[in-house]
Amino acid sequence: MAQLLQVDASPRRSRSHTRTLVREFVDRWSEGRPGDTVIRRDLGHEPPPHLTEDWIAAAFTTPGQRTSQMREALAYSDHLVDELFASDVLVLGVPMYNFGVPAMLKAYIDHIVRVGRTFSFDPEAAAPYTPLTSGKRAFVIVGTGDAGYEVGGPLASSNHVEPYLRTALGFIGIDEVEFVYTGNDEFGGERLQRSLEFARNRVADLTAEREAVAVAG
Ligand SMILES: Cc1cc2nc3c(=O)[nH]c(=O)nc-3n(C[C@H](O)[C@H](O)[C@H](O)COP(=O)(O)O)c2cc1C
Repeated sequence: MAQLLQVDASPRRSRSHTRTLVREFVDRWSEGRPGDTVIRRDLGHEPPPHLTEDWIAAAFTTPGQRTSQMREALAYSDHLVDELFASDVLVLGVPMYNFGVPAMLKAYIDHIVRVGRTFSFDPEAAAPYTPLTSGKRAFVIVGTGDAGYEVGGPLASSNHVEPYLRTALGFIGIDEVEFVYTGNDEFGGERLQRSLEFARNRVADLTAEREAVAVAG
């Protein structure tokens, strides 16, 4: 049995292409692995708070020396990190906003990329940073208004979603990340439909491999 963590970052509801494709991904996955469980984290509708000075002071204090106020400041972040540790497969729906990730997803990343929890830091070590998660895979469905942001595409150099997420997730130990793009939302019509169809086929191909995913059980 595996656990999926479904993370939706679009504030749109039925109009959101990433939400639709993430749902399709999770439904297809669950059809093939009915014993797997799904946790849903809706950043689009319940955005995580931005970090505060209290949060930063608490995160950089060793756990044994934290006051109850500090523990309180980190409670939500701890919950998100626990959710991540409990999951084997992440499925993220990410609208591209101004060439990067939406602010609610950036805030989420700030809560889960945590010293002492998802990475360790030793200034004396030859390699000072060590990721503290392992064995997880991620699938990221990116929605864009234009098209051609994928590697090798005409707008690839403007894509700050994929390089950022690969770096941030890789930093905590999630290196196996697949990206699926759906574009042309601004153009609509045939172009949008073709793009959605392409993404849908990618989702079908990726979920068809679910049996091969090396997850616990
Ligand atoms: C504030 C905002 C900024 C956007 N910035 C970009 C952008 O930089 N590049 C792009 O191709 N599309 C951009 N778009 C279009 C969205 O990426 C597109 O509508 C996508 O389908 C959103 O995902 P969703 O359908 O899941 O909501 C932007 C949309 C909004 C609302």
